Amino acid sequence: MDTKTRITREGIRLYNPEDFEGMRKAGRLAADILDRIIPLVEPGVTTEVLDRAIEDMVNDAGATSATIGYKGYQHASCISINHVVCHGIPSDKKLKDGDILNIDVTVIVDGWYGDTSRMFVAGKLNRKAERLIEVTHEALMRGIEAAKPGNTFGDIGFAIQSFVEKNRMSVVRDFCGHGLGQVFHAPPNVLHYGRPGTGPLLQEGMFFTIEPMVNLGRPETKVLGDDWTAVTRDKSLSAQYEHSIGITAEGSEIFTLSPADKFHPTYG
Ligand code: MF3
Ligand code: CO
Ligand code: CO
Repeated sequence: MDTKTRITREGIRLYNPEDFEGMRKAGRLAADILDRIIPLVEPGVTTEVLDRAIEDMVNDAGATSATIGYKGYQHASCISINHVVCHGIPSDKKLKDGDILNIDVTVIVDGWYGDTSRMFVAGKLNRKAERLIEVTHEALMRGIEAAKPGNTFGDIGFAIQSFVEKNRMSVVRDFCGHGLGQVFHAPPNVLHYGRPGTGPLLQEGMFFTIEPMVNLGRPETKVLGDDWTAVTRDKSLSAQYEHSIGITAEGSEIFTLSPADKFHPTYG
């Protein structure tokens, strides 16, 4: 058995071809859980109820939640409503008609981590929110397009930032994507902004997330007194989409594709 572990100068682990199967299983479960949450998202439901359903699905699959117990976090998901950028804590607050929310789930299957998030809507979606969600999803997909051997992490950031700013929205700088695999958060920091040709070179076997947060207003965020909830400083709406991917010889493989093809849109 080949037990050699390869790490780049920047501290990025290069996984082997047989490791992709582990990531597929974990990614598929995380995505399937988000698929099955869609019918539960409606006005009047609390985010605590959604989180409880997610925790049950993780357990029923014989998997482990990566977030319960992570740095003291106590929930199986982060649920970030409207101007909450990320790390929203599930609570007894009820969803209102027109709320947009990101649900972020990370599971561990046989030691491999699957991390994905997407946008949901309670009730009727308004046009400004719809445009934000569309641009954020497209920004993620453009970042993934740029993720291939020979390109750099700066190329990914540039693809995302240039598209978002062309649409007169802003990219959050205070949070980034991350390497993952047999750990939750590993090098590198995957920035959602940047200049072409800068940053580490992308190589086959790198596993990481891309998870751009896009604001309708300014990019600045602040973390609330609960030490988790990050919100936009100007209270503008924020959206996020996240996939876990692996670099292949030809480009990339998305581990967190929706089995029901419902990654986007999750609504009508
Ligand atoms: N899933 C988040 C990410 O994309 C991390 C959540 S950590 C938690 O990296 F503790 F807030 F759940
Ligand atoms: Co992530
Ligand atoms: Co996540």
